[in-house]
Amino acid sequence: MDRIRIRGGRRLSGTIPVSGAKNAVLALMPAALLGGPLTLENVPDLADVATMSALLAQHGLAVEHDRAARRLAIGGAATNLEAPYDIVRKMRASVLVLGPLLARYGRARVSMPGGCAIGTRPVDLHLKALEALGATVELEAGYIEARAPDGGLRGAKIIFPVVSVGATENTLMAAVLAEGETEIVNAAREPEIEDLCLCLMRMGAVIEGVGTDRLRVTGVRELGAATHRVVADRIEAGTFACAAAITGGEVLLEGARLDHLGAVARVLREAGVGIQEDPRGLRVTRLNGLHGVDVQTDPFPGFATDMQAQFMALMSVAEGASMITETIFENRFMHVPELLRMGARINYHGASAIVRGVPQLSGAPVMATDLRASVSLILAGLAAQGETIVNRVYHLDRGYERVEEKLAAVGAEIERLRG
Ligand code: UD1
Repeated sequence: MDRIRIRGGRRLSGTIPVSGAKNAVLALMPAALLGGPLTLENVPDLADVATMSALLAQHGLAVEHDRAARRLAIGGAATNLEAPYDIVRKMRASVLVLGPLLARYGRARVSMPGGCAIGTRPVDLHLKALEALGATVELEAGYIEARAPDGGLRGAKIIFPVVSVGATENTLMAAVLAEGETEIVNAAREPEIEDLCLCLMRMGAVIEGVGTDRLRVTGVRELGAATHRVVADRIEAGTFACAAAITGGEVLLEGARLDHLGAVARVLREAGVGIQEDPRGLRVTRLNGLHGVDVQTDPFPGFATDMQAQFMALMSVAEGASMITETIFENRFMHVPELLRMGARINYHGASAIVRGVPQLSGAPVMATDLRASVSLILAGLAAQGETIVNRVYHLDRGYERVEEKLAAVGAEIERLRG
């Protein structure tokens, strides 16, 4: 299994291109089930994209991935309405085929996504919303069996009790082909949802309120072909901003957008990181020292839970203390024991962790446990004295494109050890 070796202490300097967003593309690809053909541009080359391609291919769609051109072309009709356990268990986002299959074909059978390393992550909100659109949903032998009524799904008002990115996406994709109007109240406002709305509208969907927490959809009979460019990955951008900050460097994040960082930009600035807009993206510098800032994760535009681990690595070398509270997922502090092995001073209890900054981390062999935890260990390694080996990097390959190459190109001493 591949590992990543880092020798810390190098200041990063230069330009890092930001890839298309993983979480956007994983919602855009299933939209091809609604109509098409759909051509996606600026597609990152990630293990999760390959998994979603395999899922759509086994549904009967033709998926062509031109990696050199960063383009994905998806077309054809579904011939199989079942999403099997073997694929869904690898990637929770597989559940996003449920809404489109149900809306277009009237039926779907999707393996129940299991628990996952960062918490139980149920799909009850997805299922309730589809029921509100008229579907009957049963759980049978580990599978979600959903059926639309004769005549198809019907628009409804759906009020989400908590903000869910995935449930908003599934509901949107079901509603665009439902009869009549659907209103989604307390919808997630993440930039990936806006990107999905823009793509669906290019395919012919009618959606109002894009970018707000109240989406109004007027169903249409069918969706057609479209070409859509995937939005830049705000989490990758935030991660590299932390990399620049933790090494005292200066980088230009090509393609990154300030408005998509939400509270992450505000918090980084408070901690002593300079972030300036530039015609090509965002310029990130470390001004003077870093200092501890308290933060709580929240739905967008709040501080992203997907940036919590990286921010904790940064805070572990800041002056003073930082209290980090995770409100979205339980059990999302698995990076803490690994950071402790590198000399960080962190205590956690329940949903909050206190990080007391230390002057210097020290390199160590560490184990990646999930996607964002893995990259937080890379950040710590960039700042640590000596050598850090991050084991089990397959998590990293799910969501970061050529991370070691991008960091090496701006001066990091980092390499992948194969095998
Ligand atoms: C998406 C992102 C993930 C990110 C998360 C929160 C993708 C592919 N993944 O995950 O990277 O960390 O948003 O920003 O886009 N919940 C329920 N019932 C449900 C659905 C969710 O209780 O039916 C809860 C979850 O357990 C969690 C919260 O709602 O506590 C938010 O989860 P959600 O926004 O749905 O996350 P995902 O869409 O799975």
